[in-house]
Amino acid sequence: MILPIFLIFSLLTSTSNAAVQDFCVADLTGPDTPTGFVCKKPAAVTVDDFVFSGLGAGGNTSNIIKAAVTPAFADKFAGVNGLGISMARLDLAVGGVVPMHTHPGGSEVLIVVSGSICAGFISSDNKVYFKSLKKGDIMVFPRGLLHFQINAGGTSALAFVSFSSERPGLQILDFALFANDLPSEIIEKTTFLDDAQVKKLKGVLGGTG
Ligand SMILES: *[C@@H]1O[C@H](CO)[C@@H](O)[C@H](O)[C@H]1NC(C)=O
Repeated sequence: MILPIFLIFSLLTSTSNAAVQDFCVADLTGPDTPTGFVCKKPAAVTVDDFVFSGLGAGGNTSNIIKAAVTPAFADKFAGVNGLGISMARLDLAVGGVVPMHTHPGGSEVLIVVSGSICAGFISSDNKVYFKSLKKGDIMVFPRGLLHFQINAGGTSALAFVSFSSERPGLQILDFALFANDLPSEIIEKTTFLDDAQVKKLKGVLGGTG
């Protein structure tokens, strides 16, 4: 009887000894490489690495989209590095919109804290899923799919989002098309938009060519 108990005990000890790496807090003084940040030395890690206080205040919505996304991704919130999770705050002023965009690195879940938000996504077979969300509603946006959020009310709206990645990434479709130097001719060929429309959007979003 003593032997099996001893065996179980040694098994438990060896398992817990194997779990040496509880976390990999990002060393933000080092480079952000495709495989992530280097881990901070455990002795240098403090509780503040696991706390991010940047989502308490609203972002600046005085911009063309009347919206602000304040991220707490691994490059700002060292503690989430390697954990496959992160968060962001979304402020939408009246008339605000987060234009059609994707997060190539992770799925998203959004909870409306105040106001009302029309949110939706488009599946890869081009089916549309959208709904007006009110306070307390939660919606998910599967990884990589195009999606959007629009303030659907007459007051500002606030939401928090979390991601299944510490670096979900953000690519806004209109910025990808009209805020860089992709030649207008190529945009017109690949989108079927006319020249005037492309030039107008480049003018608004800061694109050239
Ligand atoms: C918000 O952004 C606008 C436009 O960039 C700027 O003029 C304004 O000073 C900013 N407001 C705050 C509080 O930072």
